[in-house]
Amino acid sequence: MGRSRWAAAAGLAVAVFAQQPAPPVRTFTPGPAVRQPIPYSHEKHLAMGLKCAQCHKNADPGETMGLPATALCMGCHQTIAKEKEPIQALAKYHAGKRAVPWERVYQIPSYVFFSHRSHLNAGATCEGCHGKVAERAVLFREKDISMGACMECHRREKAPNDCQFCHENR
Ligand code: HEC
Ligand code: HEC
Ligand code: HEC
Ligand code: HEC
Ligand code: HEC
Repeated sequence: MGRSRWAAAAGLAVAVFAQQPAPPVRTFTPGPAVRQPIPYSHEKHLAMGLKCAQCHKNADPGETMGLPATALCMGCHQTIAKEKEPIQALAKYHAGKRAVPWERVYQIPSYVFFSHRSHLNAGATCEGCHGKVAERAVLFREKDISMGACMECHRREKAPNDCQFCHENR
């Protein structure tokens, strides 16, 4: 092959490469342990054989997983460890018909569309977006749910990535 042809091919390759969008620079640092009003441990409770879905019900229309009502906890803690201080605090919320003011760990702004059900139906897993919850005594943001992370998976899975897919005017 003549030198000029090689140069032309290389030039073409460079031009094509240059047309690709630059890979997004995305760094993610896990967040700190989130302090909760009651020191609930996923690790301890899941070791008893409880299932995610017993506490996180994907109620219709399926966007949220929700958090359990105090009544669910009191099903056991009416009797179990009821002399312990955190359980007395829990019982107080329950008696006052107040939800425990849990600090949120994963939250996205309300201007972003997101549905748990669509993603679960598409084969995504709890662990993929939230990490090894069942092994955690205290949760922290250990997985990236930023716009860059959403778009990276959409690119990989060939799901749409135009702005309006996740934002207003869809
Ligand atoms: C594709 C990523 C993804 C998957 C898969 C996923 N989640 Fe989430 N999860 C999120 C995002 C994003 C939020 C924040 C939603 C918001 O603020 O509206 C969230 C929020 C939550 C919340 C807080 C309450 C709520 O619904 O906003 C709980 C609890 C939760 N997820 C549990 C689970 C469980 C249990 C599974 C598996 C059955 C799961 N998630 C699978 C991304 C995911
Ligand atoms: C299936 C029964 C069951 C359910 C449901 C349950 N727990 Fe527990 N929980 C236990 C058991 C058993 C222990 C261990 C008790 C011990 O170590 O003495 C425990 C321990 C705890 C502790 C530690 C108590 C201490 O100081 O030693 C807290 C806090 C707690 N649970 C909160 C909750 C909350 C909040 C909920 C609801 C989201 C909940 N539990 C639901 C059975 C349950
Ligand atoms: C006994 C009830 C119970 C079970 C079972 C349970 N959770 Fe939770 N989950 C809670 C409570 C209470 C909170 C709020 C306190 C906290 O963040 O630790 C919570 C919080 C979460 C959050 C953070 C939500 C947010 O954005 O603030 C995620 C994610 C989550 N759970 C996932 C799971 C997964 C995955 C499983 C199964 C492997 C599971 N949970 C099983 C009770 C439960
Ligand atoms: C694990 C890969 C993955 C991650 C992470 C992910 N998505 Fe998706 N998403 C998909 C796939 C695949 C679909 C297509 C599902 C279908 O065909 O219905 C989808 C569909 C959607 C839809 C349309 C579903 C509907 O019901 O309208 C929205 C909106 C969306 N994603 C937003 C988000 C946002 C926001 C995030 C980040 C917080 C995110 N996605 C993270 C894979 C992912
Ligand atoms: C796959 C879902 C998805 C797509 C596609 C998407 N976004 Fe986002 N966007 C998000 C999420 C999630 C957030 C919230 C990120 C956070 O708070 O960490 C966000 C936040 C934003 C913000 C606020 C950022 C900030 O720092 O305050 C702007 C502006 C934005 N998006 C614009 C766009 C534009 C423009 C496009 C099209 C090029 C786009 N988005 C496409 C999911 C998406």
